[in-house]
Amino acid sequence: MRAWKWAVAVVTAAVCIASAPVLPGTALPGTAHAADSPYQRGPDPTVTSVAASRGTFATAGVSVPAGNGFGGGVIYYPTDTSQGTFGAIAIVPGYTATWAAEGAWMGHWLASFGFVIIGIDTNNRNDFDTARGTQLLAALDFLTQSSSVRTRVDASRLAVMGHSMGGGGAMSAALRRPSLKAAVGLAPYSPSQNLTTTKVPTMLLAGQNDTTVTPANVTTLYNGIPASVEKAYLELTGAGHAFPTSSNSVMMRKVIPWLKIFVDQDIRYSQFLCPMADSTGIRTYRSSCPLDPGGGGSVTRYEAENSPAVCTGAIDSDHAGYSGAGFCNGDNAAGAYAQFTVNASTAGTATLRVRSANGTTTARPASLIVNGTTVQSPAFEGTGLWTTWVTSTFNVPLNMGGNTIQLNPTTADGLPNIDYVEVATS
Ligand code: GCU
Ligand code: CA
Repeated sequence: MRAWKWAVAVVTAAVCIASAPVLPGTALPGTAHAADSPYQRGPDPTVTSVAASRGTFATAGVSVPAGNGFGGGVIYYPTDTSQGTFGAIAIVPGYTATWAAEGAWMGHWLASFGFVIIGIDTNNRNDFDTARGTQLLAALDFLTQSSSVRTRVDASRLAVMGHSMGGGGAMSAALRRPSLKAAVGLAPYSPSQNLTTTKVPTMLLAGQNDTTVTPANVTTLYNGIPASVEKAYLELTGAGHAFPTSSNSVMMRKVIPWLKIFVDQDIRYSQFLCPMADSTGIRTYRSSCPLDPGGGGSVTRYEAENSPAVCTGAIDSDHAGYSGAGFCNGDNAAGAYAQFTVNASTAGTATLRVRSANGTTTARPASLIVNGTTVQSPAFEGTGLWTTWVTSTFNVPLNMGGNTIQLNPTTADGLPNIDYVEVATS
């Protein structure tokens, strides 16, 4: 068990209590309360912020000469030293390509979301996948042990990514170093290997019109990843093999949440992938949702339509974007509650995430009642459309074993539509 559980109290104190005293039953300022992982960096994300071409961190770059086991490259890093260290990602381009020509566009972009990035060239531009994997690992070792930014990097939170032959390199690196937190293959070319023994959470992206590494090739790799390992597959609409070689926001708004969830254990980002929050430019998506960030923590989803959950109303499925088979459309009445029975392996503060849609423009306040005690009074603001689902996060006290969580509306409008709750515990 890592320390992330204990950070809940610390960060809650810093974020919430410092601004206003919080009493049971009092609405907290805002509903999105961060913070389970001590590694999470940056503000609470939104669909807009995750799609932007810059995050909130100012960044700087430093070049690296050849001669440390790889062909040199560029390090991009957040200049902020006030939040502790950052996770790091080594990235390698495809066969015969250079980082400057094909990868550099993403360096500051990724770093500005709170990662240290090392984009590399290879010793030989004709190096194959496994050689590229060896060089990704050498780059990570250089970054964490010898580079000028080594004190900014958390050497226990590292990931790899690559395009084409470099994507095969990332897979190779992950197979050989299972302690990596994440791997991303961008149209990964991996003729010499399969992923049946990988232990690293892996996201694979394919281009619809890619004839070099086809969606079928990438699907085969994806299918080989064992069920015990978190994974995602995305096929980008209309994309060819070169989709990662110039500015690509469709790719970035999926890759950034993947890295955030697994490198930073930042479950604030699961709302973008489980289920997919914005499918613009994505024609096929598969994943092992809900995505467990690891680190000893676990995330369990409880669908409103699954017993023993109770819905005072109807289970409907007429507004797209819900997870599972439907959602709870509570009766429009005060007291028409939705209730969940959730399990906790230890007593203590857990993170509760509620996914809901309120297609009106009027808030639908409710009591959040845990084991019979009202612990918060969330507002559930209007989301404008019944298909616009949002996630609200609360820190709640749970007993070991079963717990009853009730959302009980306090006005005649009733609840918003409720899709599910998730409980994250350490
Ligand atoms: C509409 C909508 C329902 C929703 C209801 C409400 O009927 O289709 O999904 O629950 O409004 O106002 O609560
Ligand atoms: Ca309703």
